[in-house]
Amino acid sequence: MTNKEIKIAYLEYQSIDELEAKDKELAQAAVEATELAYAPYSKFNVGAAVLFEDGVIIKGSNQENAAYPSGLCAERTALFYASASRPDKAMTAIAIAASQDGQLCETPATPCGACRQVMAQYQLKSGLPMMVLLVGAHKIWKFEKIDDLLPLIFDSI
Ligand code: THU
Repeated sequence: MTNKEIKIAYLEYQSIDELEAKDKELAQAAVEATELAYAPYSKFNVGAAVLFEDGVIIKGSNQENAAYPSGLCAERTALFYASASRPDKAMTAIAIAASQDGQLCETPATPCGACRQVMAQYQLKSGLPMMVLLVGAHKIWKFEKIDDLLPLIFDSI
């Protein structure tokens, strides 16, 4: 028997202003996208912004439904829209933000398992690391690749 360990490294910033210009733009796009959420049930507005290798940013927000499971998270709304509209372009980063009562949440919202799996798929498709920015009001976490949020990614098929 061998003991194994997986370490996850990420950066923490105190403010969006600490980010380098390109990351700041993506983080701001995610914050803007929270205003486009349709979340009448949870009132938890999530925004996501996907960056392509050519600099284009596509936004998405959570879309809820009276039949709850029919709704979709912001991340997958953005990722599917991004892939459906620009299938031949590589996605290189995603930023995520959440707000309640018009206020950006203090602690960054962390993506659900299903969204992490979908991010993993597009990272695999592009062959490039997909950077993740989780944006809170006074705490921003930066992960270099999806593997840091989803270790031991399933990609065997
Ligand atoms: N939600 C997201 O959009 N992204 C996540 O990563 C977690 C949760 C949404 C789904 C639902 O509309 C609301 O937040 C409350 O769960």
